[in-house]
Amino acid sequence: MKRILAAGIIAGGIAAAVGWIVAAPDPLPASALGAHAANVENGKRLYTAAGCLSCHLPAKDDTEADVSLPSGGRALKTPAGVFYPPNITPDATGIGGWTGIQFVNAVKGGISPQNTHYLPAFPYTSYARMTNSDVLDIKAYMDTLKPVQASNRQPDLPLGLPAETVMRRGLGIWKIAAGFGPVEFARDASRDEVWNRGAYLVRGPGHCGECHTPRNWAMALDASRWLAGGPHPEGAGKVPSLRNLKARKRFKDAKDLATALEFGETLGYDKMSSGGMAAVQTNMSKLPAEDRLAIATYLMSLE
Ligand code: HEC
Ligand code: HEC
Repeated sequence: MKRILAAGIIAGGIAAAVGWIVAAPDPLPASALGAHAANVENGKRLYTAAGCLSCHLPAKDDTEADVSLPSGGRALKTPAGVFYPPNITPDATGIGGWTGIQFVNAVKGGISPQNTHYLPAFPYTSYARMTNSDVLDIKAYMDTLKPVQASNRQPDLPLGLPAETVMRRGLGIWKIAAGFGPVEFARDASRDEVWNRGAYLVRGPGHCGECHTPRNWAMALDASRWLAGGPHPEGAGKVPSLRNLKARKRFKDAKDLATALEFGETLGYDKMSSGGMAAVQTNMSKLPAEDRLAIATYLMSLE
C-alpha cells in the first residue's frame, strides 16, 4: 500500500494549502445504527474472509506472543516510514470498550474514536461495502477473543508526530479526491444468490480489489479496470488479473477455482503464494465451502 500512502503524504501537503476544514472527519452518529442481535458465528466467518488477523499479527520478534490473536505490532514498511497495525484485541490497550458506532466508523469510514483519519493501508475503502450488521458481528466475534495487553507503537516517521498529524488530516482530502464515501454493496437483481454472495465477499470483506485492481491518478481503485491486475500496491512485482480466467485457461470452471482457493499450491495450482496471496489463500481455506464457491462463481463470470 506504499503508493496509497504516498498519495496520503502528497494530499497532506495539499491539505495545508487548501485548508484544514474540508479535511475534517465526518463520522456517523450512534443513531445511524438500528437494533442489532449479534451473530458471533457470522462474525468469525467475515473476520476470516476479511483477513483481519493477517495484518494485525504480533511483531515477528515477539516470540512469546500468540499468533492466533490480533494484538498488532508487525511492521508495515512504506516509503514514508514504518507503521505498526494496532492491537485490536478486546483489551483496554486494544479496542476493549469501543462502542458499536466507533467500530463501524473505523472499519467502514476510516475514522478513529479520536476523530482522525486512518491510513488506507487499513482497507476500509473496501470494508465500506459491508453491511453495518456484518461489521457489528465481526466486533461481537472479536469481543470473544482473549484480551492481550500490548501497547500500540507509534509509526517511525522521519519528521515524527507533526508529519503524522498533517498527513492524517490530509487523508481527508485524499478521501474526497478518491471519491470515497459510504457505499454499501448493492445486489444485482439479474444475478442469483450465489453470484451476489461472491460479489459481496470479493468487493467488501475480501478486499480483493485493493491488490488486484489498478489505481487511477488519485490512487483510488480504477473501476473501469476492476480486478484487471497491475503493479503490486506494496511496490515489488505484479498482481495477476482475475478477469477472463476461463478464456485464459487459468481455471476450468468455478469448482476448479474454488479448489484452488481451498488448497492453493499444495494441489499444484500456481500463482497462489507470493505478494500476500498466501495469507489470503489460507484465510479462504478456512471459509465454508459455499463461500469459496460463491467467490469463484463471481470471479469466473468476469470477462
Ligand atoms: C491490509 C492490512 C489490514 C487489514 C486486512 C486490516 N487492517 Fe485494521 N488496520 C491496519 C492498519 C495499517 C491500521 C492503522 C491505520 C492507521 O494508523 O491509520 C489499522 C487499524 C485498525 C483499527 C483501529 C484501531 C485503533 O486503535 O485505532 C481497527 C479497529 C482495525 N484496524 C480493525 C480491523 C478489522 C476488524 C479488520 C478486518 C475486518 C482489519 N482491521 C483488517 C491494517 C489492516
Ligand atoms: C495483498 C494483495 C492481495 C490481495 C488482498 C488478494 N490477492 Fe490474489 N493475488 C495476489 C498476488 C500477488 C497474486 C500472485 C501470486 C503468485 O504469483 O504467487 C495473486 C493471485 C491470485 C489468484 C491466482 C490467479 C491466477 O491467474 O492463477 C487468484 C485466483 C486470486 N489471487 C484471488 C484472490 C481473491 C479471491 C482475493 C480476495 C479474497 C485476493 N486474491 C486478494 C495478491 C493479492
